Amino acid sequence: SMQLELKNVTLKAGDQLKIKGEILHDAEKFRIDLGCDSEDLALHFNPRFCDDTDGSVIVCNSKEAGCWGEEIREIKNPLERGSDVKIVVKLSFDMFEVELPDGQEVQFPNRAGMDIITYVNIRGDLKLKSFKIA
Ligand code: GAL
Repeated sequence: SMQLELKNVTLKAGDQLKIKGEILHDAEKFRIDLGCDSEDLALHFNPRFCDDTDGSVIVCNSKEAGCWGEEIREIKNPLERGSDVKIVVKLSFDMFEVELPDGQEVQFPNRAGMDIITYVNIRGDLKLKSFKIA
């Protein structure tokens, strides 16, 4: 599985991450994490394809000082194993908006009130093909 880790970036409201990749045929999960370091995440966006409870699901959460917050689960997961995907993550003032291939949008509140994102980590069962900050 792959990992792209960026430190010392500066992302703020209005910025977007555009991620293109191919979800592996046997994918279990992947994640897009935004925060200030691996222990402090404003957004953990975690598509899972064989979750114990929900099967195919998108789990979102935040992490503060190493502790996960309360999960929000989107049980309509339009992401499919073996497919090419484009995912756009939009940073808004108090929200993250994640645009998925079929036009579905997943929103997650910026609970941690992180105005500036300095850390990005994309990892898991995705073959990354392009990554852009716009
Ligand atoms: C845990 C999992 C973490 C993260 C978290 C989100 O069960 O081990 O990787 O996805 O859920 O709430």
